[in-house]
Amino acid sequence: MFDWREGARAPSLKKMNKIEKIDEIICRNEGSRFAVLKSFHEVQEFLGYIPEPVLSMICEKYNISKPQLKTDMSFYSYFSSRPKAKNIIRCCTGLSCSMKDAEDIFEYAVKKIGTPEKSVVWAGNLSAEKVCCLGKCHEGPSIELNGKIITGIDKRKLEIILSQYSNVRKR
Ligand code: FES
Repeated sequence: MFDWREGARAPSLKKMNKIEKIDEIICRNEGSRFAVLKSFHEVQEFLGYIPEPVLSMICEKYNISKPQLKTDMSFYSYFSSRPKAKNIIRCCTGLSCSMKDAEDIFEYAVKKIGTPEKSVVWAGNLSAEKVCCLGKCHEGPSIELNGKIITGIDKRKLEIILSQYSNVRKR
């Protein structure tokens, strides 16, 4: 059992009554070949992100250093250490999509959402981020919105999609 008193921000998890479920996830995956990845996925699904105290719990349980764990986590764009918006638009900027103006599509999404930042923007109920491939290279540029992949995206189509969200700027 993880001693949450050792984690600097662990009390917030405790306050959220999430600590037992997270501990259960980490213990259940212990010994599995992909214990860390499985735990990352399940925690991300459960909380919507993977906060620092959870990394401490995983480090302690699996005997992994925190820098190593952070490196592992940063390799996968799907995992986030910060809470995300309710609706997430993932713009593929992989090679094939990049050749079809994917960067422009992402920049356009960022502009419409209205929070200037590099790879992740979050305003109200919508966030946008880059991913490196959605497996639809031949139909790109591709985006994923709330788990649904949409291909052949251009600014006009994106505008229509984004207009469904109230925090998107009208021009
Ligand atoms: S490069 Fe965009 S879907 Fe593969």
